[in-house]
Amino acid sequence: MTSSDPNDPIALEARTATDGRLFSPSAARNRAAIADVLDVVLPRQARVLEIGSGTGEHAVAACEVRPDIHWQPSDPDADSRASQQAWASAVDGRIAAPLALDLTQDHWWQDVPETDAIVCMNVIHISPWRVAENLAAGGAALLKPGQRVFTYGPYKEGEKTAPSNLAFDENLKSRNPDWGVRDLDAVIALFDAAGFVLERRIDMPANNLSLVFEKAESR
Ligand SMILES: C[S@@+](CC[C@H](N)C(=O)[O-])C[C@H]1O[C@@H](n2cnc3c(N)ncnc32)[C@H](O)[C@@H]1O
Repeated sequence: MTSSDPNDPIALEARTATDGRLFSPSAARNRAAIADVLDVVLPRQARVLEIGSGTGEHAVAACEVRPDIHWQPSDPDADSRASQQAWASAVDGRIAAPLALDLTQDHWWQDVPETDAIVCMNVIHISPWRVAENLAAGGAALLKPGQRVFTYGPYKEGEKTAPSNLAFDENLKSRNPDWGVRDLDAVIALFDAAGFVLERRIDMPANNLSLVFEKAESR
């Protein structure tokens, strides 16, 4: 699905479709680099829950580099879930039927299967701040100490912020005032309050960051 409607509550980038599979230009650019990081940070035999899976291409890329993992995609958008389902056949039996998870909903995690890691890429800047809050809350509810939430996307870092990320922030806010490139410190503080420590930060191409939040022992 391609949405150019500024009032569309769900952000969907330009996509093309073949046989139900949608293709995202940004996923084509960044999926290999992200899969390389996921290869290192996901535990063996992990059952991975992905939030806002979009086309489903990242799930395939990650499962191809890690034949031991199982992946649970999700998205509130029905066309995206159909694409995730179509892409799942590329990886034999290790990508589950997608869930309709919407992180603006409190307690979204209540009926989610047991999970060992949560992955959320390019979502928290293109949805309300409530989604970031509920990502941290859901991570705290679903994960055990030592388990991780992985996020990927652009961030603001005060004067160090890349001009391209400032321009992207303006663009997002013009489309929806509830969206925007998030302050890195605010996201770290959110996860800290939910019981996570920033275990790793990896600078990625095009001024994006991979962040690995690890659930701490009970404080
Ligand atoms: C820019 S796309 C990123 C898709 C994919 N993660 C990627 O990196 O290619 C943003 C995704 O966030 C999803 N999304 C938007 N609002 C959401 C919400 N409230 N809860 C969960 N996902 C949401 C959209 O449906 C869309 O698939």
